[in-house]
Amino acid sequence: MATSLSAGAEVRLRINRSDYVLPIEPRVTLLDALREYLHLNGTKKGCDQGQCGACTVHVDGRRVLACLTLASQVEGRAITTIEGLAINGTMHAVQEAFIRHDAFQCGYCTPGQIMSAVGCIDEGRTGSDSSIREYMSGNLCRCGAYPHIVAAIRDAAQTVDLAKRSAR
Ligand code: FES
Ligand code: FES
Repeated sequence: MATSLSAGAEVRLRINRSDYVLPIEPRVTLLDALREYLHLNGTKKGCDQGQCGACTVHVDGRRVLACLTLASQVEGRAITTIEGLAINGTMHAVQEAFIRHDAFQCGYCTPGQIMSAVGCIDEGRTGSDSSIREYMSGNLCRCGAYPHIVAAIRDAAQTVDLAKRSAR
């Protein structure tokens, strides 16, 4: 259930390369700030208690659970949501790989899976399928799309690696 929101102190957030000033109480989570105030509904609310990974976003390039993070804790830091992952209309390699591998069914967990997968690749945890499974274990999929999700991450990791090598 959404947190009841009423005006309070101002919190300044930098989300997807844009700045926002929100009149929210200190108890409002980043997840509710994104969904209820900014209507960035790509970040999903599953369990709202840190167990499903549906709310995964990036803060300063690291994956975090938005339902366990207060908006006021990330004031002034660079927040990226699924809406900000594509740059100038070009999808991230992970987004493309999820489409290529049909790595979703209902799609509810998908934004969190993709944000977590980008983190997993950046952390260098994609050396084997078992490593991918372990470092993606915080993201649950009720549809059981796990084999396709792992295949998509394996594929995207190779694409990111090739891009890094050709940029050297
Ligand atoms: S909604 Fe945040 S972990 Fe489930
Ligand atoms: S695709 Fe339905 S919950 Fe993962």
